Amino acid sequence: MRVNTPVLLFLGLLLFDSIPGLEGATLASIPGVYVFGDSLVDAGNNNYLPFSSRKAIYPPNGIDFPKHIPTGRFCNGKNAADVIAEKFGLPLPPPYLSLLLRKNAREAAAVTGVSFASAGAGIFNSDDQTTGQAIPLSQQLDHWISIHKQLTRKLGSSEAQIHISKSLFVIVIGSNDVLDYNRKLELRQKSNPQQYMQSIADKFKEHLKKVHETGKPRLLIFGVAQLGCTPEKREKNTTIYECNEEVNMFASLYNEALIKMLQQLKEELQSSMTYSYFDIFNSTQDISSNPARYGLADATSACCGRGKLNAESPCLPLPMVRVCSDRTKYLFWDYYGHPTEAGSRVIFDLVSADDSQYMFPLSLSQLVAS
Ligand SMILES: *[C@@H]1O[C@H](CO)[C@@H](O)[C@H](O)[C@H]1NC(C)=O
Ligand SMILES: *[C@@H]1O[C@H](CO)[C@@H](O)[C@H](O)[C@H]1NC(C)=O
Repeated sequence: MRVNTPVLLFLGLLLFDSIPGLEGATLASIPGVYVFGDSLVDAGNNNYLPFSSRKAIYPPNGIDFPKHIPTGRFCNGKNAADVIAEKFGLPLPPPYLSLLLRKNAREAAAVTGVSFASAGAGIFNSDDQTTGQAIPLSQQLDHWISIHKQLTRKLGSSEAQIHISKSLFVIVIGSNDVLDYNRKLELRQKSNPQQYMQSIADKFKEHLKKVHETGKPRLLIFGVAQLGCTPEKREKNTTIYECNEEVNMFASLYNEALIKMLQQLKEELQSSMTYSYFDIFNSTQDISSNPARYGLADATSACCGRGKLNAESPCLPLPMVRVCSDRTKYLFWDYYGHPTEAGSRVIFDLVSADDSQYMFPLSLSQLVAS
């Protein structure tokens, strides 16, 4: 049989397209992706909090999302958790609170994955549990327990355990705790930066132990980014627009404490915990110093905003707020420093590259094959 060139070319493109990662890592399939965290991965849970002011429900948010509507994601399109689920061929994990009154959707999502994340959430409860501004990690875990029950009813206890052990839990949290320390004088007066960052990691450890008691998922845990280099923080450093190095120092200290805590927890659990840590701090530093290498043109200003660095106002439908002309070229979507969909895709390439210096102790393909 004669195979003509266009067919081969077409197949070649398909194959090339289906290989994610810088070094072409091939990923084993996983049954579900469950997401915990803050606004970096919120898929719309906060839309259901009547008292929360932290909601991305206004355009231009969502301008590149299917149907071009704001969904609660602080992004022009898909966020990092969406991109991960998509790369594994799974549906985008819907917000947990959107499922409460939808029995069939809840049963389906219990199996393929749910997002528990909430904008503004922290490892500490802060005052969110009482003010209803956000769903802190402790409460996100309660929501997971309820999905876990649903999963057990549906699959039976032993199948559910197997399902969880093969699933990926993506946890992106900690930024709000670090920023709280930066903002609140009373916290600074009580503890020095090392002590406080250690106390966040200690609290996180308690939460992770709870997760472990419900099953042994594969954990993908993000550190915190260069929080001193968001468009907002740079804009505040008038005239020179450099990063706020003190905030970066807090973020680094937290990441150091987190990395040690994870190693210790794995030892305490006699290696029955499977995890990998993604170093978003050093990876975004690398992207910021070489945006072109990652196909970006701008890794300092916000795509959506107003004024200097487009960081003098949040991304809201206000006069004067503008959206950058090429949204695929910006790392940051808004002044808070949430990445664009393009930014999240660049980050995913660094998460999934087999030789990534930013993922340890396991590469993503090792984590999902473990
Ligand atoms: C402004 O940038 C300089 C240079 O990086 C840095 O040393 C300083 O801490 C920054 N100041 C503020 C307020 O962020
Ligand atoms: C991040 O980069 C700094 C400076 O290059 C380096 O000293 C540090 O070890 C890196 N952090 C990690 C966790 O690899």
